[in-house]
Amino acid sequence: MICSNLENRGGTLFFGDSDTTALIQKYGSPLYVMDEARIRRNCRVYVDALQTYLGKTARPLYASKAASFKRIYEIVREEGMGIDVVSCGEIYTAYKAGFPLVHAYFHSNNKTDEDIAFAMEYGVGYFVADNAEELNAINRIAGERGMEQKVLLRLTPGIDPHTYAAVATGNVDSKFGSAIETGQAEEITAYALSLPNVHLAGFHCHVGSQVFDSDVFLRASDIMLSFIAGIKAKYGYLAEELDLGGGYGVRYVESDPTIDIAENIAQVAARLKARAAELNIPLPAIRMEPGRSIVADAGLTLYRVGTIKKIPGYKNYVSVDGGMTDNPRYALYRSAYTVLLANKLDEPCDFPCSVVGRNCESGDILQENVSLPASVTRDDVLAVLTTGAYNYAMASNYNRVARLPVVMVNGGADYLAVRRESLDDIVRNDV
Ligand code: LLP
Repeated sequence: MICSNLENRGGTLFFGDSDTTALIQKYGSPLYVMDEARIRRNCRVYVDALQTYLGKTARPLYASKAASFKRIYEIVREEGMGIDVVSCGEIYTAYKAGFPLVHAYFHSNNKTDEDIAFAMEYGVGYFVADNAEELNAINRIAGERGMEQKVLLRLTPGIDPHTYAAVATGNVDSKFGSAIETGQAEEITAYALSLPNVHLAGFHCHVGSQVFDSDVFLRASDIMLSFIAGIKAKYGYLAEELDLGGGYGVRYVESDPTIDIAENIAQVAARLKARAAELNIPLPAIRMEPGRSIVADAGLTLYRVGTIKKIPGYKNYVSVDGGMTDNPRYALYRSAYTVLLANKLDEPCDFPCSVVGRNCESGDILQENVSLPASVTRDDVLAVLTTGAYNYAMASNYNRVARLPVVMVNGGADYLAVRRESLDDIVRNDV
């Protein structure tokens, strides 16, 4: 199967050693399931590779926009990772989980004064400043609070990551960061160096997400180190940290390529060292910000099948009790997923259909052109694989549908990490 934590035991889907059909019985339907052991394994790939090839100062930061709830922050802390946060909500969740926020890096391209003050109040270690206006606000608010704030500057290196448009960010005309090519990156650096309440800690770039091109990080390394050397020559400033962002792709379907992340990090490290030597600068402490590759394959979603609709001469629909409210990624990006009938794995899949949700619009599709066993019927358990990233995180209450719980499995044991929303939760904020 697509990931080693999935198994067919007598026709039933097991995930992280747990029987998925038993999980749905125990916790109800629909349900997100996440495999703690797999999350930890994915974290260790980064921690081990970065430390092996780039030394003890290198550290991965979990990009928590991929999946943010208290338990995740506990797990990544135990695995020795920092975090990337993008909102007061993520900062507060990490804080409530006891995450040491000195190891948090605050992103976003438009931090309000309230966001900035909140993050400083909670002791967020680093701000990743997107633009000069924001840098000015950080300096002003840090000054009001009588403190100096550590800042990385987000730069755009001008690289096309060959992924879908919604997640490509390295291009010069991106809404994120300051472009090296236009001279704005240098301008913002000079500005940061002139500000009394900002401590410029280094530079950041993030080229895109769901990236398989193995040379993207190599090219980003070259461009960023050349920039750092140019700044040192002109301003005498040496960056302490270089954050290369996130983006390694994961396999959603069998036809997706595989990328050996540890091997790619080894190549990136070799390139960084060679380039720093050529440029005659010490190598800054390296950061990476994986999100998807930490949690995507550590998650799946379980649904109960409802209506089966056959429109002769046209198409077939299999409806489930969730949909775009728990997974908007097909509606947004036409994302491919592997779909299985978890209780009928041994049956041949010869019934072509679209798997659709329960929400009131035709775009509420989880996947088109899939094949399921022809015996598919009401109450079968349908699993959509690789939903650990950007599913719970992007869920909504459209149609006043309650958000699903997150159940963790770990070597055959299971526990609740996020409760199912109740109908009272749905009306909680209605005045
Ligand atoms: N760092 C920065 C600054 C980012 O913007 C992102 C993702 C990451 C790290 C993590 O990238 P990853 O390793 O997860 O690829 N909703 C979209 C994905 C948006 C990604 C946004 N930024 C989706 O469902 O595909």
